[in-house]
Parts: sequence; structure tokens; C-alpha cells
Amino acid sequence: MPVKSYKELRSARFFAADDFRSFGHRSRAMQMGLGHEDWEGRPVIAIINTWSEAQPCHMHFKDRAEWVKRGILQSGGMPMELPAHSLSEQFLKPTSMLYRNMAAMDVEEQLRAHPVDGAVLMGGCDKSTPALIMGAISWGFPFLFLPAGPMLRGNYAGRVLGSGSDAFKYWDELRAGTIGPDEWKGIEGGIARSYGHCMTMGTASTMTAIAEAFGLTLPGASSIPAADAGHQRMSAACGRRIVDMVWEDLTPDKILTAAAAKNATTVAMATGCSTNAIIHLVAMARRAGLDWSLDDLDRIGHEVPVLANIRPSGSTYLMEDFFYAGGLTALMKELGEALDLSTLTVNGKTLRDNVAAAVNYNTDVIRPMSNPVYHQGSLAVLKGNLAPDGAVIKPAACDPKFHKHTGPALIADSYPELKRIVDDPDYPMTPDHVLVLRNAGPLGGPGMPEWGMLPMPKALLKHGHRDMLRLSDARMSGTSFGACILHAAPEAYVGGPLALIRNGDIIEVDVEARSLNVQLSDDEFMERRTAWVSPPPRHERGYGWIFARHVQQANLGCDFDFLTTGFGAPVPEPDI
Ligand code: FES
Ligand code: MG
Repeated sequence: MPVKSYKELRSARFFAADDFRSFGHRSRAMQMGLGHEDWEGRPVIAIINTWSEAQPCHMHFKDRAEWVKRGILQSGGMPMELPAHSLSEQFLKPTSMLYRNMAAMDVEEQLRAHPVDGAVLMGGCDKSTPALIMGAISWGFPFLFLPAGPMLRGNYAGRVLGSGSDAFKYWDELRAGTIGPDEWKGIEGGIARSYGHCMTMGTASTMTAIAEAFGLTLPGASSIPAADAGHQRMSAACGRRIVDMVWEDLTPDKILTAAAAKNATTVAMATGCSTNAIIHLVAMARRAGLDWSLDDLDRIGHEVPVLANIRPSGSTYLMEDFFYAGGLTALMKELGEALDLSTLTVNGKTLRDNVAAAVNYNTDVIRPMSNPVYHQGSLAVLKGNLAPDGAVIKPAACDPKFHKHTGPALIADSYPELKRIVDDPDYPMTPDHVLVLRNAGPLGGPGMPEWGMLPMPKALLKHGHRDMLRLSDARMSGTSFGACILHAAPEAYVGGPLALIRNGDIIEVDVEARSLNVQLSDDEFMERRTAWVSPPPRHERGYGWIFARHVQQANLGCDFDFLTTGFGAPVPEPDI
């Protein structure tokens, strides 16, 4: 039902006015070959495209943008493709996370500055999803998200390979000497064999699932493999729908309610959830003005079982199998009343409407509530004197014997130091040691790199050990596995407790009790704190300088303080 007239659109102020500035807008649109019939009476739709030649996960976006345009034209809109930072997970150093907020600002400011009424956001590779959504939420006008879709299953010598997870796994085997360089090279060529994002339930697949559960995609969009022709059809459908969303004035505040955030969190837990998703979920929810915290995540994690039997939390399957089994709509149908099915989504219907026709075609891939992969949600938040503001662990992806553990700390202050420890086959250590990497948080990394799945030390690998307790203020790849406690907040670099521990201090972890402590008295802590010297800043100019001054800690989503909702007065519309 249209609630807006053409004259009320933002773009009409640019194109329909009878003044000197509008003459400029129209004449320059005509310079591009457009005519009055292209814009008169039509909403202008931005296609925010994160295609780049450094972004293998989004290689198909050059083509898919054309399908989005087809849909926009079919529905009577005018497309306007705008490039945005692609946040390539594999090629950005020191880490794409350093640039998530920059990309979010890029999106918000581009949308605000251009003559557009609505937006289709094209993303999928890890941080691109939250960056696009965070920026568009702060803009506040109608948008929907088109996920890139997962790549095809990896394949080498008849063996199925999963993004990230199998790279880590075979790297350990190579270091343990159980595979040789030829096999390793074969894996290199077979693990990523089509465009699309990582096809394990890593950060990318978790984030696109979260976007769908939040109500920000068309039904089923997050599960379609990038190379499936259904992805072209979905792209066109996004183009058609956004035009109607503009006429209906379906703004994000009507979709991003507390119930929607709970749904997004519930689905994240049921998918097996990348640890990164916690940070992005908190950041996105806070952009929407919701007070969403680690406590909410842990509470929901206690209640919701893992249903998606997808690696790394699941044993065998990958996103292609998930799609064939019915995809996210089938998983949400299995969750049933664990979700609030009354929430509104971008197609103008409720989640209940969207999952009504879903069918679970394979109950081993998408488990029913009665036969979960893991009885509780995939993530747990630990707190204690080592992480007063929280740390996270993925209990479903580690050896259960580490769920309760006490052992001495073995500390690396930097990644090079860590490498020296793990690469020394004779380094003195026991399987009970807790390997610690610090100074790898939001400021210490900087950008909180994905170093948190600390490599297994050769000294333990050679004795057959494949897991040990590891602790860091870093993040880890969503495709990682192992007994890794991450995101310890506050981080060491700003003087968090992790900065104060020493080799041999006894660390105690109890996942069931949600605790993470070091056996140190308050007096000892105080003494060490007084002696602690704060390290010099990582960046003295440029973007890193801004980052260092404004990034918040992991428990607050690592957003910049000045970008959060409620910081300062709302930004006015451009006065043209
Ligand atoms: Fe792009 Fe994994 S590298 S999603
Ligand atoms: Mg990743």
C-alpha cells in the first residue's frame, strides 16, 4: 500500500524541483544518457555494490548488480549503482575488521549524500554484511540486503573441503608431517572453487543468516549458493521489492525491534554461530537503538540448541547441503516458537508468513529441536577477574574436556612471539598449559585481528594433541574450531587484566559456570596494575589515529563511539 507520493521522495527534491540546482542534477543525469522518463515519478534506488578485484567472494556482483537493476526497472524505479569498500577478508591487512566502521561510514554518507530513496545492499564476505547494514541503519531510509551466497563445496581428490576449517586442519597435518607438499598444493587449488563467500558456517554464513532473521532480506535469500541460478532470480526480486518498500515507507526502525534482535540472536545460536557474529550483532543492534549486550547473547545461548549440522560446529555438512535441505527458512520453521514469528520483514510480511511453506528435506542437516547437534547455543560468555566485561567461547566446537579446566599460563605478548613458541618442537609445555596471546584486541591488534585460534604448538602436535585451551583478546575466524576463549574485555592493550598475568599464573575456566579467572589476589592484581606501563599508540596519523581514539571494546561491538545512535543530535538531511 503506497503511503508516499512522488513529491515526498528525497530524490524528487533533486530531480523534480524547478530551480537552478535541479537543472544541474537533470542536465548531468542527461550527460549519462538518461532522460526525463528515467526519473519522473520514479524512486531512485541505490545499489551499494561491494565488488572489487580484491574480493573473490563478491566476484559475481558485477553481474548480479545488473539483475538487481532489472528488478528495479520492472517495478518502476531508477537504479543508481554506487561502489563501496569491499572489505576483502583475505587480502586486507592487518585485518578487515580495522575497516568495518570506515566502510559503514562510507555507506551511511554515500546514501545520505546521493539523491536516493532506498537501497539494495550487496555484501556477504564477513565484515561487509555488518558494515553495510550498520551504515544503512544510521541512514534510516528503506533498504534490504542481498547476500552474496556461499561458494560451492570445496573438492580435492574426491574429498569435500570446507572453507577455513580444512585449511586450518590440513595446516596442522602438514606441520605434523602426516601430509606432504603435493597434497597441500592440491588443497590450495580445490578449497575455493567458485565465487561466493565461505561455505562453512563461518562469519559470512552466520552474518547473512542473522540479516535474514533480523528481517532484512527476502525469505530464503541467505542460503542460495552464489553459483545457483536462483541467485540471479533473487537479485531481481530484491530490485523489484525495494521500489515498493520506498512507496510503503518501510524504514528500518519498523523492522529492527528488540524482538527482531532476539530472533537474530536465536538464529545465530541455532546455526552454530561464528564468534565474530557476537561483535557484529551487538554493533548492529546498538545502531538500531537497542541496548543489546553479551548478557542477552549468553541468556539466549543457554536456551537455544544448535540445529544446523554445518561445519565447524557440525560434523560433515556445508552450506550447499544446507540449501538443499531447505535452507534458513526451514531452520527457522524448526525453531518455531523459540522465535517471535510476528516480526515484520522487508517483504512487508511477518517471519511466520515467510517460513510457513518451508520444508526440511534433510533432518540430519537441519536437525529438529528434539535431536540437536548441541544441546545449548553455540556460544557462551565467560566473565571473571580475567575478563570483567566478558569473553566468548564456542563450546560446541571444542573438546568437551576443556569446558572445565585449570592450568598454568604460557604467554605471548605478540604474534611473532607466539610463532616462536608454537613452532619450536621442543618448547617446554604440557597439554594442560593455557596458551595466551595478548595485545591483539581492538586497539592492540590494531583492529582485533583473527589470530585467536592460536596454532597448536609443535611440541604438543608431535605427541598427538590436536586441541588445548587458548585465550586471547583477539577474534578468530568463524571457520575456526578448538578450545579458544576470545574477545577478552577489556583488552590487554588498554590495561585489561590480561595485561597483568605472568607465565605460570594458574587460569581457571568453567564454561558451565560461565567463569574465567586467574588465581591472583586483589592485592597482587593491584600491585601489578601500579607497575603496568601503557604501550605507545599504534597509529599517530590517518584513519588509524581516528580508530584508536574512538573504537569501543569488543563487548560494545567495536563501533566508533561517535557513530552510535544517540551520540549528538540526529544528522539533518542535506539542505539543497
Ligand atoms: Fe570472504 Fe570467507 S573470505 S567470506
Ligand atoms: Mg572469516
